[in-house]
Amino acid sequence: MQKMKLKIEENILLSNFSTFGIGGPAKFFTRVKSVDEAQAALAYASENTIPFLILGSGSNILFNDDGFNGLVILNKINHCQFFKNEVLVGSGCPIASLGLNCIKRELAGLEFTPFIPGSVGGAIYMNASANNLKISDVISEVEYLTKEGEKIIFKSSEMDFSYRYSSFQKMNGFITSAKFLLSWDKNVLDKYEDIKKFRLSTQPQKQKSAGCVFKNPMPSLSAGYLIDSCGLKGFTIGDATVSSVHANFILNKGNASCKDVVALINHIKNCVKQKTGIELELEISIIGLL
Ligand code: EPU
Repeated sequence: MQKMKLKIEENILLSNFSTFGIGGPAKFFTRVKSVDEAQAALAYASENTIPFLILGSGSNILFNDDGFNGLVILNKINHCQFFKNEVLVGSGCPIASLGLNCIKRELAGLEFTPFIPGSVGGAIYMNASANNLKISDVISEVEYLTKEGEKIIFKSSEMDFSYRYSSFQKMNGFITSAKFLLSWDKNVLDKYEDIKKFRLSTQPQKQKSAGCVFKNPMPSLSAGYLIDSCGLKGFTIGDATVSSVHANFILNKGNASCKDVVALINHIKNCVKQKTGIELELEISIIGLL
């Protein structure tokens, strides 16, 4: 078999690949558009004994100011095929485009996703949810590569999902594509319009952030509510500030560093712990040592 040629770049700034707009350079960086390329990238990391990180839309991640001392594999596997009410989609596809595409076809199940900035792979990894709908309700199959490059198909009964959790978080491979099973619904556009109205009025728009920073400690207890009740909306460290619209969003006002955001995270955790006794847990991943 002929070896796949990969373009490996060096010292690529990760701030350009994170919705926070924060992060130092990746020592090595490659974009993959197919499963073959993904396998080649995993092999490159293994042959050179360097750590690797699979990056989708960079919307739930905070990169360290010093960057990542390994290979960042940017997932651009972006195919999409509908078969009646089923869709097979590459994991690098933005979940928002998939959601809008489904709505256009009067297919229900992903109408909560058009405002989620992540990729399909990221949404599966985190079991993205909003407005009482979640990814795990509509997933029927996931194609996955182990870090050794072996292909595995997981059926829905072979995957575990719960709030902001999937069994993929315990594995160290690459989600390459997924099948979703949707249902026909003539009212899906109206449902989406309601979700849109809610989202636009309760969450900040078009600002540099990673969405909600902390998990909700209980289904009926919002981390945003707890942070808000500590009077922290607008609280700022450096260029990182607590959104005045939704207190569980930290915004990068311009040139925030990872250090600014981490200092703000720690301040929020301390205030909430002192006031309520609750230990907030991060939803976002922080990459690299601080
Ligand atoms: N609230 C406040 N102040 C705030 C924010 C919220 O008092 O600053 C109150 C609201 O008024 C409401 C309650 O808290 O009574 C719940 O707020 P909201 O409906 O906005 O939901 P949430 O629990 O704060 C979760 C998800 C969001 C998702 C929304 C909508 C988490 C951590 N967050 O937020 O997900 O979009 O529900 O379903 O589970 C994300 O994960 O990045 C994210 C944005």
